[in-house]
Amino acid sequence: MANQGNCVSYALFVSWIVLLSSCKASFALTAEALALLKWKESLGNQSILQSWGLSLEDANSSNTNHCEWRGIMCNDAGSVTEINLAYTGLTGTLQFLDFSSFPNLLRLDLKVNQLTGTIPSNIGLLSKLQFLDLSTNSLNGTLPLSLANLTQVYELDVSRNNITGVLDPRLFPDGTGAAKTGLVSLKNLLFQTTGLGGRIPQEIGNLNYLSLLALDENHFYGPIPRSLGNLSELSILRLSGNLLSGNIPPNLGRLSKLTDLRLITNKLTGFVPPELGNLSSLTVLHLSENNFTGQLPQQVCQGGKLINFTAAFNNFSGPIPVSLKNCHNLYRVRLEHNHLTGALDQDFGVYPNLTYIDLSFNNFRGELSANWGECQNLTVMRIAGNMLSGKIAVEISQLNRLAVLDLSSNQISGEIPVQLRKLSKLLDLSLKDNRLSGQVPVEIGELSSLQFLDLSMNMLSGPIPYQIGDCTRLQLLGLGKNNLNGTIPYQIGNLVALQDLLDLSYNFLTGGIPSQLGKLTSLERLNLSCNNLSGSIPASLSSMWSLIDANFSYNNLEGPLPDSNIFRSFQPSAYSNNKDLCSGLVQGLRPCNAIPERKSDGNKKNRVVIVVAPIAGGLFLSLALVGVLGFLRRWRSRNMPKDRSKSSSREDPFSICYFNGRIAYEDIIKSTENFNDKYCIGEGGTGKVYKVEMSGSQMLAVKKLNYQSRDGEVERLRSFSNEQNSKSC
Ligand SMILES: *[C@@H]1O[C@H](CO)[C@@H](O)[C@H](O)[C@H]1NC(C)=O
Ligand SMILES: *[C@@H]1O[C@H](CO)[C@@H](O)[C@H](O)[C@H]1NC(C)=O
Ligand SMILES: *[C@@H]1O[C@H](CO)[C@@H](O)[C@H](O)[C@H]1NC(C)=O
Ligand SMILES: *[C@@H]1O[C@H](CO)[C@@H](O)[C@H](O)[C@H]1NC(C)=O
Ligand SMILES: *[C@@H]1O[C@H](CO)[C@@H](O)[C@H](O)[C@H]1NC(C)=O
Ligand SMILES: *[C@@H]1O[C@H](CO)[C@@H](O)[C@H](O)[C@H]1NC(C)=O
Ligand SMILES: *[C@@H]1O[C@H](CO)[C@@H](O)[C@H](O)[C@H]1NC(C)=O
Ligand SMILES: *[C@@H]1O[C@H](CO)[C@@H](O)[C@H](O)[C@H]1NC(C)=O
Ligand SMILES: *[C@@H]1O[C@H](CO)[C@@H](O)[C@H](O)[C@H]1NC(C)=O
Ligand SMILES: *[C@@H]1O[C@H](CO)[C@@H](O)[C@H](O)[C@H]1NC(C)=O
Ligand SMILES: *[C@@H]1O[C@H](CO)[C@@H](O)[C@H](O)[C@H]1NC(C)=O
Ligand SMILES: *[C@@H]1O[C@H](CO)[C@@H](O)[C@H](O)[C@H]1NC(C)=O
Repeated sequence: MANQGNCVSYALFVSWIVLLSSCKASFALTAEALALLKWKESLGNQSILQSWGLSLEDANSSNTNHCEWRGIMCNDAGSVTEINLAYTGLTGTLQFLDFSSFPNLLRLDLKVNQLTGTIPSNIGLLSKLQFLDLSTNSLNGTLPLSLANLTQVYELDVSRNNITGVLDPRLFPDGTGAAKTGLVSLKNLLFQTTGLGGRIPQEIGNLNYLSLLALDENHFYGPIPRSLGNLSELSILRLSGNLLSGNIPPNLGRLSKLTDLRLITNKLTGFVPPELGNLSSLTVLHLSENNFTGQLPQQVCQGGKLINFTAAFNNFSGPIPVSLKNCHNLYRVRLEHNHLTGALDQDFGVYPNLTYIDLSFNNFRGELSANWGECQNLTVMRIAGNMLSGKIAVEISQLNRLAVLDLSSNQISGEIPVQLRKLSKLLDLSLKDNRLSGQVPVEIGELSSLQFLDLSMNMLSGPIPYQIGDCTRLQLLGLGKNNLNGTIPYQIGNLVALQDLLDLSYNFLTGGIPSQLGKLTSLERLNLSCNNLSGSIPASLSSMWSLIDANFSYNNLEGPLPDSNIFRSFQPSAYSNNKDLCSGLVQGLRPCNAIPERKSDGNKKNRVVIVVAPIAGGLFLSLALVGVLGFLRRWRSRNMPKDRSKSSSREDPFSICYFNGRIAYEDIIKSTENFNDKYCIGEGGTGKVYKVEMSGSQMLAVKKLNYQSRDGEVERLRSFSNEQNSKSC
């Protein structure tokens, strides 16, 4: 259909050109120009191709010389040698580009556009083509076998398209030299991030000139062909992000020009052949995320040129390659999550260019030596989860670009050096789970960029320095499981960026919880458990909207919980083992307006406490509610016994809550038709408010406080089971 329509418009178009030609004898459109115009036609309105062809309206933009059209280059004979429309926003397909019309085309560059459809099967007609780049489009379908005809092509890039199928071995020379087809001239072959799968054909090993082979992020499986060891010109081999299995062929060690070998994220196993140590030009070696075993290749930096080296997330064991010690050009090293052994202070040297090193989760021993202070460009240093001992070398503080220092889960002892104050770029300082002692240095407040500070699980003592409140970018503050004493500095309330966690648990903190913590409105997890905190949980904490987890247990806290649903949503264990926390709405806490008793009736049903207040004519509901709550508070402060255990009060709280003694419980039930929602006039944090019309036209607001009783506590209230559904009104 589309084909037909296009033919019609093409016919019209040609007759229009013929018409013009008859007026102006100078017009002479070649077959190439017509082929380009036909393709332009098929693409619809592409402003980028405005210079192509004739315009009746604007004589200036009429240009019959296709060699002057945008993106077109010709040879001296006026024949097209290059079509370069890279980065032009081109949409449409290649279907109507008649490749047979371009016998002299050397370069076709259409990268980074929005071309759709398939790679036409007649692309092999471009028999002189040397350069074909269709990368970063939306082409789909399989690779046409006719590509094998492009024997002159030295660069073929179809990366970042939706090409499926396999790499047909017939695309490559068969190695006998007999057949005249195959991409024999290839220097650069790039199929990155396509949908290609299957095995990597061993015939690739016959591409004698191949310098760059990039097949990363596809679905290739099976072994790395041994034949790749024959590619004596190969400089870059990128096979990351596939499903390749088996060992690295030892003969890759023959590739003396190899500078860049990337095998990340495959299913490769076995030893890495020591022959890779022969690759003296190697600057980049990525082995991460496979299942390699055995030692790292000891001569990996024999040539001294290694810059980026990763082998993380494997099963490597044994020592750090000896050749790494004097590998001065190292820039980035990731060896985390292996079983490597060795002494951190002996096996590493000085690396002036090193910016990133991660040795975490291995079996390294020794101290953090002064040498590391000479790696002046270090920005990230992670050595978590090893067996480092000794003190933190003060020389670390010379690393004035350091942004991340993670030494957590080691056996580091001594004090936190105050000199760390100089690390003004530090974003993340984790010294968690070590044996650090002494005080938290007050100078920590000078680390104004800090976003994550975790000093938990150490033996730090003394107070929490109030200066920590100056680290206003902190998103996580972990000081739990230490021996800290004194009070919680109210300045922690200034850490309004706190988001992940504020953990002060398992210390010896005393005094009250600062009301300023209510300013931490982004905080998601708060742990104050296992201290000696006293007083109440400040009402201001109800503005910590983001809290999803909190723990106040094992302190000496008392009084009501902040009036917010968030505080009601935590597990009862979040409040357990305190002096006297109360809330009618958290299981396990006694209701605040109830007189505490010790005996349990085991009744777990929802119960209702009723608080009444008059609605004075003209007063708004909100005022009435305030009145109710204020009334309740006054009552509480007057009537709460100082010593609960000695309380012998058997008074019915409901009767205490009477507003004027004339209102009977039954009257309220009757007037609200057993708390029918149609009398509901509002809903507060602790329950619904009902309008009650009493005899004598007196209007009352009645707040029904919901709470759950639990075993071990009794509320001798005038109460009834709440069988109404909790539909809000
Ligand atoms: C073609 O596109 C250009 C720019 O996008 C626009 O100015 C012009 O009006 C369009 N012409 C037609 C025929 O749609
Ligand atoms: C056509 O080009 C000439 C010379 O380059 C210029 O003077 C004239 O203004 C142009 N006309 C239009 C319609 O752009
Ligand atoms: C391969 O190129 C030859 C000319 O060199 C041509 O005759 C032939 O049709 C082409 N084959 C394909 C499949 O494109
Ligand atoms: C290619 O994509 C087009 C849409 O752009 C779709 O209609 C067609 O079915 C796809 N072909 C294949 C082989 O996936
Ligand atoms: C690739 O094609 C498949 C099926 O034809 C489709 O589901 C997928 O979304 C496409 N991916 C991209 C990146 O276009
Ligand atoms: C490497 O090339 C030689 C000579 O061309 C050949 O004999 C051998 O089979 C090739 N090796 C592999 C693994 O393909
Ligand atoms: C390559 O490395 C192996 C083992 O490391 C060694 O025995 C061999 O001599 C090296 N070959 C060359 C050509 O350097
Ligand atoms: C890695 O290899 C070891 C043995 O060499 C094997 O026990 C383990 O299951 C492998 N792991 C994965 C993820 O394949
Ligand atoms: C080394 O890694 C960094 C960070 O990934 C990168 O920017 C740089 O280009 C790499 N160097 C080489 C030589 O690949
Ligand atoms: C470090 O990096 C610089 C700049 O990239 C480079 O010139 C130098 O050779 C590298 N090596 C050392 C040891 O400084
Ligand atoms: C450190 O990095 C900077 C750029 O970030 C570079 O200019 C400088 O040469 C590096 N220092 C060393 C000693 O290589
Ligand atoms: C904190 O503990 C230290 C001993 O570790 C003690 O000297 C100091 O008085 C304590 N401070 C407070 C406020 O309890």
